[in-house]
This record gives sequence, structure tokens and C-alpha cells, in this order.
Amino acid sequence: MNRYWSNLVSSLQPYTPGEQPQDQQYIKLNTNESPYPPSPRVTEVMQTFDYSRLARYPDPESRDLVKALADRHQLQPDQVFVGNGSDEVLAHCFQAFFKQTMSILFPDISYSFYPVYCSLFQIEYRQPELDDQFRIRLDDYATDNGGIIIPNPNAPTGIALELGQIRSLLENNRDSVVIIDEAYVDFGAQSACQLIDEFDNLLVVQTFSKSRSLAAIRIGFACGNRLLIEALQRVKNSFNSYPISSLNQAAAIAAVEDEEYFQQTRRRIIDNREQLTRELQTMDFEVLPSSANFVFAEHRRLHAEDLYQRLKSAGILVRYFNKQRINNHLRISVGDETECQALTRALQAITNER
Ligand SMILES: Cc1ncc(COP(=O)(O)O)c(C=O)c1O
Repeated sequence: MNRYWSNLVSSLQPYTPGEQPQDQQYIKLNTNESPYPPSPRVTEVMQTFDYSRLARYPDPESRDLVKALADRHQLQPDQVFVGNGSDEVLAHCFQAFFKQTMSILFPDISYSFYPVYCSLFQIEYRQPELDDQFRIRLDDYATDNGGIIIPNPNAPTGIALELGQIRSLLENNRDSVVIIDEAYVDFGAQSACQLIDEFDNLLVVQTFSKSRSLAAIRIGFACGNRLLIEALQRVKNSFNSYPISSLNQAAAIAAVEDEEYFQQTRRRIIDNREQLTRELQTMDFEVLPSSANFVFAEHRRLHAEDLYQRLKSAGILVRYFNKQRINNHLRISVGDETECQALTRALQAITNER
């Protein structure tokens, strides 16, 4: 608090990202990044990039990247918007579409940035409860609202809705914008991109931070009807005209074009997740059915916060949320084969001891 702060700034409770420790080498299974490096084509493009281009501003509309994404998702370029990480794209969406006269809806257990955007942009919200198996109850969303945002798969549960369920959500909500946040869709859920031509109120948001192994370059994108995309451009061009550097744009295009590498790493992460799930179950964890690159698990005897601390002491970071309903769960990002083995060994040592 400071006397120069606005009332709005004083009232904010900013988002707390997962720890990014700089002091010690941890096995990092706490922020759902990819354990694998980006495509070798990305490295090549970055190494051969003409650095004299950095003296100039980049293309404000990142047209080459937009075109590559439109081709990849069988859309037109005017149906795609790119931004500096999907967090920024989401922030623009909240400003562009969510009405301040009616509450927007998102699940009580969901991505914890959504309430932060609501307080930043002064948007009222309601959070329908997940059921006792942590699933979204679609009936709760068949009611008047100022907009809907749902991650699919949901975070931190990892549970996905099926395409038919997303379709019925859209059918029940023709008068407000429905945003499907598909940060983790490539690990086992169906993308709603294929419904875009049918529903002019649907916006699908994806990221390069997970399945494309490019969290550091901060690129996210939205796909939807061209009038929704135009709204996002209006917000962007009232905020920051050049959100994506020319170097990052080149890297992202190389990643989109390497479909084979994308499929390989995505598959490996899914395989590691299935293996990790089985290992956790044999150690007495209950694991929710995950379609993401993380699992959400609760031990039948040991408390999650204690497990989190013990793992941290053993050099392994996982995510613990001290929040009602989920304060006995751990969210564990799926690592590479060696990291998953290290986690399993550490957990075996802890669980056998007690
Ligand atoms: C559900 C969800 N949406 C969006 C994001 C933001 O991703 P980024 O800003 O790295 O694109 C995250 C990050 O963890 C997430 O979990």
C-alpha cells in the first residue's frame, strides 16, 4: 500500500505463478512446462536469424505466424489472433468480451488467473462448483451470464470435457462469448476449433508454452469468428502494437511447421503420464483421469503439504495449492522419463517410511 497507488491497484490480489527458483537445480514438475526442448528446427531458425532485423520493429500483426496457425487449424488468417503468451491473449479477451453488467462464469476450481483479470477489469464473476469427482456440471452454465470461460482440459484437475459437451455449452449460450482455454488440449482432449464456423460466439485460446516446448518465448493465440478477432486487435492496438518479436515469430513458425516433432513429444508426454499414473496408484495415490501434461493426485494417508515439502527437500518441485477443496492434492507436471523415475523413487522412499 502506498499513497500514490490508485484504489484499483490497492485492491488487486495478483496472480502467484509457480516457483521459478534461481538458487538450486530442482527437478521442476510445478509449472506444466514441457520437459523436452523445442523442435530442432526452432534452434536452427534462431541460430541462422539475421540479427540486423532486431533494429526494426516487428510486423505488428505477426502475419506470417498468423498464416502458419490458420493453415495448421484449417482456418482463415482473419480467424486467428496472436499475443504475448496466452495469458496476454486471455487478458485481452476479458476486456473485449466480458460484460460488466452481468457476472461471467468459470468453475470454482480452475485457472487462478481468471479471478485476477476480473478484479483488474472490474468484472463480476460466479464460480459454479465442480461435482464431488471434480467434474464440470454443464447445467450450471445454462443460465444468464456475461460470458463463460472454461479450460479444457481443466486445470488443475486435468479432466477434459468432450466435444459434444462443449457444443451443448455453446448451444445454451448464444448470447454471450464462450472462451475455451485449450492450454493443455494437445495432451488428450478434442479441440473446439472445429466448431468455430458454426458458433460466432466461440473463442478458442491455445499456447506455445506446453506442447510446443516454448514457454520462454511467450506466445499464445486465439481462434474464432473474424469479428471476435477484430475486437482482440482493437484491444491489442490500444495497449501494445508489437507484442511479438521478429525472432520469436520466426521460432514459433518453425515449431508449427515441425508437425512430426510435435506429435512425437506430445505422445511421449502422454505415455509418461500414463506410466506415472500407474506408479502413483501403486503408492496409494488417487489420481484424477488426466488429459493434460500434469496429474492431480491425493494420497490416501499422507498430507499433500507435507509431501510437497518432503519432495522439495529431495530436490523435486511440484505444485501445492493451499485452497479449500484441493488442499490435500498435489499437481505434478509430467516430466521426461528420468524425471518421472526420480519422482517415483523419492515418493517410494517417503511413503515406505511412514
Ligand atoms: C489453463 C491455463 N491457461 C493459460 C495459461 C497461460 O499460458 P501462457 O501464458 O504461458 O501461454 C496457463 C499456464 O499455465 C494455464 O494453465
